[in-house]
Amino acid sequence: MAGPESPPHAALRPVREAQPWCVDGWRARPAAQMPQYDDPVELQRVLERLGQLPPLVTSWEVLALKDLLAEAQAGKRFVLQGGDCAETFADCNHEVIANRLKVLLQMSLVLVHGLRMPVLRVGRFAGQYAKPRSADTETIEGVTLPAYRGDLVNGPEFTSAARRPDPMRMVEGHARSAMTMNFVRALVDGGFADLHHPEYWNLAWVERSPLAAEYRRMVDGIGGAVRFMETLAGPIVGFMKVDFFTSHEALLLPYEQAMTRQVPRQWGWFDLSAHFPWIGMRTAALDGAHVEFCRGIRNPIAIKVGPAMHADQLRQLIDILNPDDEPGRLTLIHRMGAGGISQHLPRLIEAVKAEGRRVLWVCDPMHGNTEKLGSGVKTRRFANIRSELEQAFEIHAAAGTRLGGVHLELTGEDVTECMGGARDLSEADLARAYKSTVDPRLNYEQALELAMLIVRKSGQATR
Ligand code: PEP
Ligand code: CO
Repeated sequence: MAGPESPPHAALRPVREAQPWCVDGWRARPAAQMPQYDDPVELQRVLERLGQLPPLVTSWEVLALKDLLAEAQAGKRFVLQGGDCAETFADCNHEVIANRLKVLLQMSLVLVHGLRMPVLRVGRFAGQYAKPRSADTETIEGVTLPAYRGDLVNGPEFTSAARRPDPMRMVEGHARSAMTMNFVRALVDGGFADLHHPEYWNLAWVERSPLAAEYRRMVDGIGGAVRFMETLAGPIVGFMKVDFFTSHEALLLPYEQAMTRQVPRQWGWFDLSAHFPWIGMRTAALDGAHVEFCRGIRNPIAIKVGPAMHADQLRQLIDILNPDDEPGRLTLIHRMGAGGISQHLPRLIEAVKAEGRRVLWVCDPMHGNTEKLGSGVKTRRFANIRSELEQAFEIHAAAGTRLGGVHLELTGEDVTECMGGARDLSEADLARAYKSTVDPRLNYEQALELAMLIVRKSGQATR
């Protein structure tokens, strides 16, 4: 079996004769959450154009990520996956992108320092533009229009023009993803992410944060360690650099198909719209189009696992998506809710353990804890997010498995969307800066607090 010395993907072709797969085979399956485009000719023209455009990531990066995820499965890395619930075209700007990167960098600094292990950073960005919805339509004052499905599909304004699924949005989404990617890569390569200069990541409004002092102590500690090592060994350049990988929900299959390519000197197909696509909770049907599409691509894949998931469905999903138990291939992101995790996670862990299958367990403490207030505003309570995460560490420790990462919705903007946290945001505070068009996100301070909590909890769970 391939060990860490020989990269797991090096020569790995499927051992078993899998069911034949083709890039548009998903079209023969029931496809949930798909918009109805009204002009098939226009749609086809756009998809052909998209198919000619350059990919957003490369197969080398995708395979490198798979190796890193395999290391996380082996307990040698912790995964921090985070970003917006839904990116918007309007927010594809310098400030939003840089601020989001700053929060992720600061969180990962806290995690590296506290967990004493490398952190694998995966953004929910550069393509997180398509959203599943609970209903296909929305009715306001007797007018019914298609639901907003993310900027990749239609616009959020409640007019029939905005809500019409417009194929050209896929071309625009590709372009915005490329701009985001380009800026992130330039920042990271240009030194913004250099551990020698964590002060680059400071966000203006944070100075007054109750967490600032604790964070500054960590930064000083790391600065001291870097200076100490450089005194001994000379300037450290290479390993101080941090990388980002991209992920999004592989929801809009015509878009994903157009970005799925064969590349020279590699076998198989790669979805080059992002490094790490995931299958959402609403599209994980065994015979559904999303599972069919994802089984044939060579990217690492994640599945969102909610409280309704049956052990048998999970076993079959693992069989379909990772028949050869390839290291790094499959991540299970559980999102049960603070009130449901103790009931549902243990049975699923046992099912996976009983099959002896290799997965990376990641906790999304956001999506099972969404609630609607009397005012109609969607929020999440920090106490519930925290509780689900703490329980996740405990449940995995008790089962002898390892929680290898977290999946969060956060932003570097000073928003007030989730209640609680260090500043104890109340229902009244939500009105001050509620900007999300979809799910409520952690703001900078709440995100950093969660990173500190992960360090504390993970220390307890492994003691
Ligand atoms: C999401 O991650 O934004 C999402 C919709 O998640 P889930 O599929 O877990 O509900
Ligand atoms: Co969301």
